[in-house]
Amino acid sequence: MTNKTDRIIIFDTTLRDGEQCPGATLNIDEKLVIAKQLARLGVDIIEAGFAFASPGDFEAVSKIAKIVGTENGPVICSLARAIKADIEAAAEALKPAVNARIHTFISTSDIHLEYQLRKSRAEVLAIAEEMVAYAKSFMKDVEFSPMDAARSDPEFLYQVLERTIAAGATTVNIPDTVGYTTPSEFGAIIKGIIENVPNIDQAIISVHGHNDLGLAVANFLEAVKNGARQLECTINGIGERAGNASLEELVMALHVRRQYFNPYLGRPEDSQESLTNIDTRQIYKTSRLVSNLTGMLVQPNKAIVGANAFAHESGIHQDGVLKNKLTYEIMDAQLIGLTDNQIVLGKHSGRNAFRTRLKELGFELSDTELNKAFVRFKEVADKKKDISDWDLEAIVNDEIQQAPDLFRVELVQVSCGSNARPTATVTLRTPEGEELTDAAIGTGPVDAVYKAINRVVNVPNQLIEFSVQSVTAGIDAIGEVTIRLRYESKVFSGHAANTDIIVASAQAYVNALNRLYASLQSQEKPEEVSAQKV
Ligand code: KIV
Ligand code: ZN
Repeated sequence: MTNKTDRIIIFDTTLRDGEQCPGATLNIDEKLVIAKQLARLGVDIIEAGFAFASPGDFEAVSKIAKIVGTENGPVICSLARAIKADIEAAAEALKPAVNARIHTFISTSDIHLEYQLRKSRAEVLAIAEEMVAYAKSFMKDVEFSPMDAARSDPEFLYQVLERTIAAGATTVNIPDTVGYTTPSEFGAIIKGIIENVPNIDQAIISVHGHNDLGLAVANFLEAVKNGARQLECTINGIGERAGNASLEELVMALHVRRQYFNPYLGRPEDSQESLTNIDTRQIYKTSRLVSNLTGMLVQPNKAIVGANAFAHESGIHQDGVLKNKLTYEIMDAQLIGLTDNQIVLGKHSGRNAFRTRLKELGFELSDTELNKAFVRFKEVADKKKDISDWDLEAIVNDEIQQAPDLFRVELVQVSCGSNARPTATVTLRTPEGEELTDAAIGTGPVDAVYKAINRVVNVPNQLIEFSVQSVTAGIDAIGEVTIRLRYESKVFSGHAANTDIIVASAQAYVNALNRLYASLQSQEKPEEVSAQKV
């Protein structure tokens, strides 16, 4: 193993660090749907979770290892504290994967040692070395992270890295855990490691960083220039606090500016070969899937995947683009899989045309999923004349969304208007199969619907975010509703798409309540789980 690889390894941590942001909690089936899409995207490593954190996390890692961790699939990784029980759980959960990795970590900054670990440097050094060796006894691929590396004393960091590499770490990851560093400082840390860790050529240098100052991507690119060859990132940059470095920004920066980066990887400047294994045409779809399933909206001006990322509003820009795209566009929208929103299907389209187009869009559905999605397609096609690729994507994502099906919306009826008091009647099917109807008055139609639903479900909660977005332009567009609600210290999200935004609002709310309800029913106490997350 050498850190002289001439390409960049993409380590996706959407399902571990990404899932740590409030409300982004995913169930096992949703994690699996995302893992399959990450494999299609071409990531090299999927950090599927933190196996020891809860039975649910263990099962998710294990299921992803079995189904996605195939011969030609990505390496499947589980996080583990530098504790034997964590490492054992990770090794056990990863057993079904053909290619597996344990990622173990312990803090190395003085502030963490003094206040959190209450351990001396000598103790941490010994634990790191011993636990890497322990992880190595289970598998050959072991990653070690000195947590808060960017704020650690460089001399101590070099010592820890040298000893953990000697103990068997094949990747050493340098986290900027608190998002504090700047690009030139981070680059210098990587350079210092290469110059001062004698056995560094036996490991890949990886970077992990948070976006508290909005610098994570810039820090990573500087790290690449100085020798880092693995980037730990998440789709849409989701993650703890301000999030992680965003996968799509890193990959597209390395792609669009490959002539600039080529020499740093020992390639000829004009080499056209891709610097990563990512199939960039899968980027947009992956971003939408992660946003829909986590309920974490993508801001419109977000680089690469934001709704405005390829829109030109200024007259001067529009004029230029019409004359020659390159005047104001540094990349083609098609490169990230944004189609021209073609009108492809209508109400007379049959199952075959539906299946074929979905396949072209990269959706591989089981027969059951296809049947469910086709029924939804017909319902939408009855109301909306032309069905575009984006509509299809909304329909399919909505159908394959795996929120627990406990309560189900059977009927939503509202009465509102300028001189009316907004009133809603809802009928829900309960988990026991009973149909319950209730009604309520609200400040608006959505408020009335939510109050009526609350009367049926009867779990106190606070709505903290509500958003409606239209999938396409036009009065008959499908509306997508994303909501987040709080129950005690936990946040749950819900998402639904429908041509009727009141119905979509009701479904999104019930979807989030179902997650809350399932969490209350499950054995694990949510608070205990989140306390274990890092
Ligand atoms: O931010 C961090 O330091 C982490 C480590 C576990 C790699 O997430
Ligand atoms: Zn992190």
